[in-house]
Amino acid sequence: MTEPQPPSPTLPSPIAIDGPAASGKTTLGRAFAGRFGYRFLDTGLMYRAFTLAALREGIGADDEAACEALAGRLDLRVEAEEDTRILLDGKDVTSELRSPDVERNVSPYSAVPGVRSALVRLQREVAADGPWVLAGRDIGTVVLPNAPLKFYLEASAEARAERRARQSGEWGQAQTAAESKGDINSRDAIDSTRKASPLEPAPDAIRIDTTELTLDEVITLAFSHIPAPEEGGGEDNRGASEQNAAARTEPRPRNATGDRSKGERKEGRIGRLLAPITRRLSWEPFVRPFYWFCVHGLRVILWVLGRWKAVGRENIPASGPLIVVSNHLNNADPPILASGIARRQVRFMAKIELFKMPFGAIIRLYGAFPVRRFDADLAAMLHAERLLKRGGVLGMFPEGTRSRTGKVGRPHPGTALIALHTGAPILPCAIVGTEQLGNPLNVLRKPRIEVRMGKLIEVEAVRRPTEEQVSELTDRIFAAITALLPEHYVEAYTGSNGQNSSRK
Ligand code: DC
Repeated sequence: MTEPQPPSPTLPSPIAIDGPAASGKTTLGRAFAGRFGYRFLDTGLMYRAFTLAALREGIGADDEAACEALAGRLDLRVEAEEDTRILLDGKDVTSELRSPDVERNVSPYSAVPGVRSALVRLQREVAADGPWVLAGRDIGTVVLPNAPLKFYLEASAEARAERRARQSGEWGQAQTAAESKGDINSRDAIDSTRKASPLEPAPDAIRIDTTELTLDEVITLAFSHIPAPEEGGGEDNRGASEQNAAARTEPRPRNATGDRSKGERKEGRIGRLLAPITRRLSWEPFVRPFYWFCVHGLRVILWVLGRWKAVGRENIPASGPLIVVSNHLNNADPPILASGIARRQVRFMAKIELFKMPFGAIIRLYGAFPVRRFDADLAAMLHAERLLKRGGVLGMFPEGTRSRTGKVGRPHPGTALIALHTGAPILPCAIVGTEQLGNPLNVLRKPRIEVRMGKLIEVEAVRRPTEEQVSELTDRIFAAITALLPEHYVEAYTGSNGQNSSRK
């Protein structure tokens, strides 16, 4: 087993997913585990492992006493991250658990009460150790009846048979849809009519019929049921806890395919030493005071240094959702932009690499939340959209990274997508002069720094934005930012799909 992860106070743990064979439990379980850094236990594999052991020992499912005795002495261990591996007597048997023999016999063995009680005990022990997603037939009803988030997936027998036939090819046991349907029907019958903990939805489970849904739709729908974190006083506090929740997903970040990216893997020694403490910390109570302390402190410093100006503040709406976008020249841009905005608290979406400790503590205290760039980071998008739906202010640097040349680069489409989903207006901003802060000697020369705020871009909410709509709004954002910048920050731009050479 790997190092246990403490349950987050803002993300529910454990998560229970139940449903019949091929209803999508494993896919959803892995998606939760991958996105939120949980571990995933497919409990069906434990029943399969028992079946393998019983078949090896020649014990029949009708010999309940022998099955119970075997379950009591079985050396069955679970190794899990986003996926589950099962060790029997210390040997990894995962690849043998989908064999036709096991497939055919698993339902009768898993109906034996003595087998169930032994495996349920083991599953509870496993789930007590860190945040987990457990998938099976009785997780929400028997194994973890107190789980704060439960799903029950269902789908028509035809849809499940088709999926199972596809999977069986991947598992090297090619079956037709008709053969799969026969298997599924008999498994359904045994699983839902057995006496000991039959397959049924927990009364408090969220039921999702996956028959007509794509994989992405199931995942998006399920993620949308993650309860909003407790709300604090004002609009800004709500955003903070929301983003803190996102930040808490960071300890074990992965990209869409589940691998940790190079930048993400490289957490420093101090970060690793601090991790057991920082993972347990709730940053929320400190975010608001820290944010305003930084904003006002920086305003004083900038004022003393002179040569600092914020223009166009009359364009900032006093309330309601708002997306603040700007060009990006220096790491100091978020606090400088925030000091320019001043009257509203901005929650910045920041690249996940910045959340490594110890610097990550400042970012978290500032109320920022992580995003995996160049990846459809669904969790970050959802957090951003929820913040806006509650009237918060989202800060984004749509180029995705600092410009190394000082010239503004083409925005990524994420900003436009969030704006179109939520209908939040966009405040285009331009930061001028912070590129000089990279050199300490320049700081002594008191560089002229300016935050310029342009006219609001009003956006109408669209449920499913088309590529053209996203591209058109991205162009408008880019045009609005460049219109605020002095000419030498802007390079000839080659069109919607073109890339500007200023971005790296
Ligand atoms: O999810 P699966 O097809 O791998 O499950 C294999 C068998 O195990 C299935 O017949 C039902 C049973 N099972 C169960 O009874 N309880 C669980 N929590 C998980 C699986």
